[in-house]
Amino acid sequence: MKRFLRAENGNRIHWDELAEVHAESYDYEELIKGGHVMDRIQTGEIGEVRNRSLLHLQCHIGTDTLSWARLGADVTGVDISPDSLRVAERLAKKAGLKARFIESSVYDLPDKLNESFDIVYTSIGVLCWLSDLSAWARIIRRYLKPGGFFYMMESHPFLWVFDDESDGLIVRYPYFHGEDPDEWPADYPDYSDSNYIVQSPSWEWQWTMGDVLNALIENGLEINFLHEHNVIPWKALPCMIKGDNGFWRLPDGMDKLPLMFSLRAY
Ligand SMILES: C[S@@+](CC[C@H](N)C(=O)[O-])C[C@H]1O[C@@H](n2cnc3c(N)ncnc32)[C@H](O)[C@@H]1O
Repeated sequence: MKRFLRAENGNRIHWDELAEVHAESYDYEELIKGGHVMDRIQTGEIGEVRNRSLLHLQCHIGTDTLSWARLGADVTGVDISPDSLRVAERLAKKAGLKARFIESSVYDLPDKLNESFDIVYTSIGVLCWLSDLSAWARIIRRYLKPGGFFYMMESHPFLWVFDDESDGLIVRYPYFHGEDPDEWPADYPDYSDSNYIVQSPSWEWQWTMGDVLNALIENGLEINFLHEHNVIPWKALPCMIKGDNGFWRLPDGMDKLPLMFSLRAY
């Protein structure tokens, strides 16, 4: 990770920049009104969280962390971006929810947190910021109580081969990758607020499904299920359409590809 310190610091600046933008653009009204913003796939697959301790890795502005708190979990959110966590703490207050937030890179967490949890959780838009999946998997294992489980839901690695500027499904990017991240220069619309033009560059790693599963397996986790889904929570490709359930999907006829996966491991 030391090797990628410049990329990690750059990504922290990138996410600090977006924290207040997302404080305005993320849809979390339900949290403030006393509900939650967790989707049915995750609530169904994770099940009852009441009175269970939950560690949320890469929690950003905490909307998902606070949703689990609303559903009764005792939550701890971790993120590298201090500005994101400031927004998360503000939201917790507004929603009247108890949550603990810790500023840390995933890899450095043992320097700051010495506990274990019933559930270790992470979701959507997380893997591409990680330079070392093996170290990530060791952290997950480190924080699981005996009998506890790890759950994640994330965009499907196969989705990232397609051209995100074309209306069709045109393969533009490689599925496989080298060790170094791709540098994305600034100056593109933010995914949540298309009127906001992102000012800071970011560095992303593309991981294959094999990379993810093998990192977990090689570090002692046993995969309990792997589900592939044909929906995703945001418009990842221009041709996608929004369904009644709030998720985006490919139009009829193209709808033959996985867009997201979820997994549970012990
Ligand atoms: C897309 S967001 C989190 C996903 C969450 N589902 C959401 O949309 O709010 C990605 C988060 O990962 C965090 N992050 C990136 N690299 C990290 C690292 N090495 N350790 C901890 N957090 C990191 C960023 O600060 C950002 O808040």
